[in-house]
Amino acid sequence: MCCASASTAARGSAAETPPPLEYMSGFGNQFATEALRGALPQGRNSPQRCPYGLYAEQFSGTAFTAPRHASRRSWLYRIRPAALHGAFRPLAHTGLVGRFTEFSASPDPLRWSAPPVPETAVDFLDGLLTVGGTGASDAHTGCAIHWYRANRSMRDRFFYDADGELLLVPELGRLRVASEFGRIEAGPQDIVVLPRGVRFRVELLDGEARGYICENFGAPLKLPDLGPIGANGLANPRDFATPVAWYEDREAPMELVAKFDGGLWSASIDHSPLDVVAWHGNNAPYKYDLRRFNTLGSVSYDHPDPSIFLVLHSPSDAPGVDALDFVIFPPRWQVAEDTFRPPWFHRNIASEFMGLIHGRYEAKAVGFEPGGASLHNCMTGHGPDAATVARASAADTRLPQRIEATLAFMFETRTLIRPTPQALALPQLQRDYARCWLELARQFVPPSGAQT
Ligand SMILES: [Fe+2]
Repeated sequence: MCCASASTAARGSAAETPPPLEYMSGFGNQFATEALRGALPQGRNSPQRCPYGLYAEQFSGTAFTAPRHASRRSWLYRIRPAALHGAFRPLAHTGLVGRFTEFSASPDPLRWSAPPVPETAVDFLDGLLTVGGTGASDAHTGCAIHWYRANRSMRDRFFYDADGELLLVPELGRLRVASEFGRIEAGPQDIVVLPRGVRFRVELLDGEARGYICENFGAPLKLPDLGPIGANGLANPRDFATPVAWYEDREAPMELVAKFDGGLWSASIDHSPLDVVAWHGNNAPYKYDLRRFNTLGSVSYDHPDPSIFLVLHSPSDAPGVDALDFVIFPPRWQVAEDTFRPPWFHRNIASEFMGLIHGRYEAKAVGFEPGGASLHNCMTGHGPDAATVARASAADTRLPQRIEATLAFMFETRTLIRPTPQALALPQLQRDYARCWLELARQFVPPSGAQT
């Protein structure tokens, strides 16, 4: 038996067209939701006996003693506690990598074309391919970056990641993420965030799916403070959507897969773990439509640092220094006068992994494809390619220019992103990537008589 929220179930009688999924609005709110009326205990978290014979279970995402503004926890009321499953055994996986310190990172810029969805049957877990990572999941620092590729839905297979919070960035195909907290549907230009440890399965709504994952080992992603921007702008809190409670009461031989200490583990389970009938709290999955991002920029000259495009970030222990930034480059107007409008050439202390969801990125005329990726590690010089420099240098900046039909993003870290041997062995690795800058002609014209 599967149940939507009471309000969803009460609406509409047509069985042929399922009603759209319902969500609750806001980022990090203290939500309260029940799929059966009266399932959520009132006035206390752990009554002696929960309604309908449910078990109460706390699910924490931060230390109990974290400051209130940073504290994340939820209370789940479920048919069976999460402890009920068989013993875990290591599960081999050729594409997934969980430890990175042994890999060398080179200062060369790297770029990949999109890796194809395999022709063999693969679900969300089977098709994982790790690009690189930094830090260590057991120390709760750093992140891993993966591609997911799938052509088959998960059904009797469930997954949770004890190593990190998952930021999903779909590039191809829509997903339905059925989780303990409810169901989320998302496609390209949406993101989905699943807190560390949430159990879920991924169903495909379009037959095939591909996208990017940032597995955040550190502090949970949060909205940035806005400083002088003011009370509004960038990603607005009310545009984040958290699912209403939903559960399935299903018994069959099933599999529970965990990512733990860098590897996958498999356990048998005789029921669906998506059996949470009601829950409350602020540690829950959410989605966000990137098209709602309120993009800000210069209306005079130059353009600000890309931190102006920050959607979510994971702070580090150092004030003002993020462990992880999630940044997007959406459609927008460019109006800065007497300005080189594409991204400038730069070398940053941060390391930058970029992906493209659709369209063409403003700084690269060719070679950076939807589903592809680039990696520029700390202090690696990079910037627009020669064709972009020629175009932007000749543009009439008295006229506004609209950047249309594009959406690129960046996972930016404060520590080196070490590419995996699997990623470096891909035929999609563009071994001539750096040639895009070799065509930049010398333009220096010193005044006559200048000393050399
Ligand atoms: Fe960059």
